[in-house]
Amino acid sequence: MAPLLLFTLSILLLPFTPSANLHNTKTLLSQSDHSPHQNPHQDTPITTFFQVTKPIKTPQKSSPCSLLVLQHDFASTFGKPPVLANYTPPTNCPSQHFSKIVLEWKATSKGRQFDRIFGVWLGGVEVLRSCTAEPRATGIVWTVEKDITRYSSLLKTPNQFAVYIGNIVDSTYTGVYHVNLTLHFYPSNGDDHHDDKHKFSGSSNDFNGSPADLIVPVSRNLPLNGGQWFLVENSTDVQLKEFEIPRNAYRAVLEVYVSYHENDEFWYGNPPNDYIVGNNLTTTPGNGPFREVLVSLDGVVVGAVWPFTVVYTGGINPLLWRPITAIGSFDLPTYDIEITPFLGNLLDGKQHSIGFGVTNALNVWYIDANLHVWLDAKSEVTEGALTDYKSPPPTFSLSSNFKGLNGTFFTGATRSISSSGWVKSSHGKITTNSYQDFSFINSMEIGKNGDLQVVNQNINANSTVYAMLPSSYLYSIQKARSFPMYLHTDSMDQGSGSFSLVANVSLGFNEESSVGSRQGFSISSLNNLQNGQGSMIVNGNLVTSGLGSTQQVYNFDGFSDCYFRNVSSSNYTIIYDESRDTCRGTQKARPKRGFAGWRAFSTRDARI
Ligand SMILES: *[C@@H]1O[C@H](CO)[C@@H](O)[C@H](O)[C@H]1NC(C)=O
Ligand SMILES: *[C@@H]1O[C@H](CO)[C@@H](O)[C@H](O)[C@H]1NC(C)=O
Ligand SMILES: *[C@@H]1O[C@H](CO)[C@@H](O)[C@H](O)[C@H]1NC(C)=O
Ligand SMILES: *[C@@H]1O[C@H](CO)[C@@H](O)[C@H](O)[C@H]1NC(C)=O
Ligand SMILES: *[C@@H]1O[C@H](CO)[C@@H](O)[C@H](O)[C@H]1NC(C)=O
Ligand SMILES: *[C@@H]1O[C@H](CO)[C@@H](O)[C@H](O)[C@H]1NC(C)=O
Ligand SMILES: *[C@@H]1O[C@H](CO)[C@@H](O)[C@H](O)[C@H]1NC(C)=O
Ligand SMILES: *[C@@H]1O[C@H](CO)[C@@H](O)[C@H](O)[C@H]1NC(C)=O
Repeated sequence: MAPLLLFTLSILLLPFTPSANLHNTKTLLSQSDHSPHQNPHQDTPITTFFQVTKPIKTPQKSSPCSLLVLQHDFASTFGKPPVLANYTPPTNCPSQHFSKIVLEWKATSKGRQFDRIFGVWLGGVEVLRSCTAEPRATGIVWTVEKDITRYSSLLKTPNQFAVYIGNIVDSTYTGVYHVNLTLHFYPSNGDDHHDDKHKFSGSSNDFNGSPADLIVPVSRNLPLNGGQWFLVENSTDVQLKEFEIPRNAYRAVLEVYVSYHENDEFWYGNPPNDYIVGNNLTTTPGNGPFREVLVSLDGVVVGAVWPFTVVYTGGINPLLWRPITAIGSFDLPTYDIEITPFLGNLLDGKQHSIGFGVTNALNVWYIDANLHVWLDAKSEVTEGALTDYKSPPPTFSLSSNFKGLNGTFFTGATRSISSSGWVKSSHGKITTNSYQDFSFINSMEIGKNGDLQVVNQNINANSTVYAMLPSSYLYSIQKARSFPMYLHTDSMDQGSGSFSLVANVSLGFNEESSVGSRQGFSISSLNNLQNGQGSMIVNGNLVTSGLGSTQQVYNFDGFSDCYFRNVSSSNYTIIYDESRDTCRGTQKARPKRGFAGWRAFSTRDARI
């Protein structure tokens, strides 16, 4: 979205009640969403919205025990405490051992409403960050299914769910969200071999990827208003949480949840400050297009998150996301940071602190995390030490060239963080090495005195974790992610407070991953690409007419586990949809790719 024009317009023309403007000053709504009688198709059925993703593989031979944990109508919930629901483990199951646990969010809505960010927490541990779909006059329904097996330890004992959606209902924004939150427990029956990205292989040792024994929430205590996430409001704001872990931990992974709103909802399109200052712009969000979340432990940076560019359902042009929603918008990606090398510092039974900051942040980022901790069943105290830590200063580059409101800008950044440390437990003295490597490039062109904006961006986020015993290799996890994005917006004043906007968008989420243990090695790749073209006329914050078309190709190739979908929509209608879950074609090439990854990794290993 053109940062100048649209942001300025939305500020000037929005009926600026804080209510209508919760997380998204640039969120738009469709005019036709309001009055059903404007729709010539009285019988238009309820529209089903969806995010394209690989279906969750559930054990074939068992049917789940299902538990409705919350049924609630979210109307005027903004600024209130989260809605709570007690949880007790299911009693109607033949077994209390589950190989898969799935969270199902199902919601309906009707009328007109903004896209609302929401979170679901269990005992303060966030289990889902998501965005609601914007309803239509004729009604919508959507379902989000998430594999929450990694949170198993939390589901073994009674606990409390908390759900926060900052929704407002009034005579204009009429959409109430009717929500059911259900858990599906799949009893384990021995011989099921289904995929699980946290499983290293079908081994039975303690490093087979079983879920953590304990999950420590790194979130706000139940607030009197808002979600349990922390709010990071500017580039110097650091939100801290004190925590402690049992003294017999032997592994720890921090899972970070991130979303960005208001002035930073479209951070990748924010121009640099010299441009803002040079043009006396007062309401355009700036600080340039680079953002990173920095995670610190007792004041020392232990990892970073260079986030994927999730576009919420009202973003850029809301007609693009109906009914195919943007990548990640219904189930925001989370980011794992291996903390094990630092465990030696945390095993003293004392309080420590985790902090979240965002480089260049503008108001506001919602961040929290879950610390997954594995405990040594055979000892009361483990010990460890950090042996190496490197966090060289990141590199930044900016070239800014503008004349008046026209300009071209290049922003680049790189960062690496590495750590090594050992932990001695009944599993032996395990040394864990963790590496994160990031690169960022953004080229931005602003033309037509600010009415045209073209953004080309790519983020690379690579991580490697490599663990070994004194004389042998134990396991490794390698991930190379790339997030290409392209945005072209062209707007034109139409008079009487209206403007037209033509927007082309391309969003990609790619991940090459390889996971190995002494028992085996598995590799997979995901290529998920969305292209969208939209045009619309906007008056105030309402889309009065327009058209959106979206094409998406999702291709997951995991050797014996594959999923492919090619789907496209135009004007609310699916016009093409092809999917398959069989692997084909590149079987021979696959092991090679794995070994290539392996080599890269051995090179890394030589650094230790
Ligand atoms: C929620 O569950 C209730 C009871 O099963 C059902 O009547 C209702 O239609 C469900 N709502 C949604 C949004 O699925
Ligand atoms: C940044 O945000 C924090 C938290 O709201 C606030 O205390 C601080 O004054 C802000 N700093 C600046 C420079 O605005
Ligand atoms: C910005 O404001 C200053 C001081 O009011 C003025 O001299 C200058 O011409 C303005 N620049 C632009 C580009 O409007
Ligand atoms: C990440 O890994 C990919 C694939 O191995 C490589 O091409 C890229 O250069 C790496 N990027 C960084 C920042 O390390
Ligand atoms: C900016 O570019 C437009 C054409 O896109 C041109 O008409 C205008 O004069 C340019 N403005 C400046 C200050 O150069
Ligand atoms: C935007 O998409 C339309 C439809 O695919 C295409 O005709 C047009 O050339 C695209 N424009 C840009 C600038 O990419
Ligand atoms: C997806 O489907 C479209 C037809 O709608 C086709 O043109 C395109 O080649 C397909 N893409 C892939 C990767 O199969
Ligand atoms: C979109 O579909 C509606 C009917 O649902 C139709 O009235 C309208 O003309 C279509 N718009 C375009 C641009 O095809």
